[in-house]
Amino acid sequence: SGQDCVTMEQKGQDLGASVGDTIEKEFTYEDYETTAKWLLQHTEYRPQVAVICGSGLGGLTAHLKAAQIFDYNEIPNFPQSTVQGHAGRLVFGLLNGRCCVMMQGRFHMYEGYSLSKVTFPVRVFHLLGVETLVVTNAAGGLNPNFEVGDIMLIRDHINLPGFCGQNPLRGPNDERFGVRFPAMSDAYDRDMRQKAFSAWKQMGEQRKLQEGTYVMLAGPNFETVAESRLLKMLGADAVGMSTVPEVIVARHCGLRVFGFSLITNKVVMDYENLEKANHMEVLDAGKAAAQTLERFVSILMESIPLPDRGS
Ligand code: HPA
Repeated sequence: SGQDCVTMEQKGQDLGASVGDTIEKEFTYEDYETTAKWLLQHTEYRPQVAVICGSGLGGLTAHLKAAQIFDYNEIPNFPQSTVQGHAGRLVFGLLNGRCCVMMQGRFHMYEGYSLSKVTFPVRVFHLLGVETLVVTNAAGGLNPNFEVGDIMLIRDHINLPGFCGQNPLRGPNDERFGVRFPAMSDAYDRDMRQKAFSAWKQMGEQRKLQEGTYVMLAGPNFETVAESRLLKMLGADAVGMSTVPEVIVARHCGLRVFGFSLITNKVVMDYENLEKANHMEVLDAGKAAAQTLERFVSILMESIPLPDRGS
């Protein structure tokens, strides 16, 4: 759409770009600020934690006490959600005593959004004072040890679109958010991953908590057999169509990040296998295992460090 291609000339702003810079900068710092200020004016919540609910995992918002709900379409600058199973609401409230903001429905690259739009909420969360981002998604299992309904703690990711230039940080860098060349080798918080394993033990689940590497593809089609084999060879354990852009932007602005993939299907790895991935099985597996993941995320709220108020 035309709105996706607002050029610097159209914005009429000095965005720190030099002559010959052809990258459009879709949002200015002030655009993110406008949205953050609007939210701070419309809610008394001051969230420390943001949670992005993946496909079929929007039920997490039902666990929020004293929830205050905003439709994406009433929030200035906010993109709109289009995919089935993603509601498109921002929900504030208390989860296990922690002040949270949750995205019920995220923005996907395959929907046609620019990566600036996909990651827009993350920078808004940062400006709201959020220090920790929890990401969840539905993913296909590449690791042969993974079963449908498993939860995979994300240890690392592979930004496959990034290999071809599709990176949300591409273009002029705004130092107010972060540095030009952010490290990404520690993207998924080590302490929180350790605490996740302890919390999982406490929950007494039969299944083990899996851990591994999430690879993002743009989608919307599921992988070919050859592609799935390639992804496995690359060292990926689960494949999906989201999360990575949000995590990159979150790490850029210094948020603590951890997250989970719900394994909704086993990716087809050989030509004899007649199964085909489809969106319904993704949503169904989500329903069955969602409650476990919801309980898990709720318990983990206790493990997130309290905000450093700089005392
Ligand atoms: N591939 C890509 N994305 C997915 C899958 C898959 O098999 N399952 C859920 N999201």
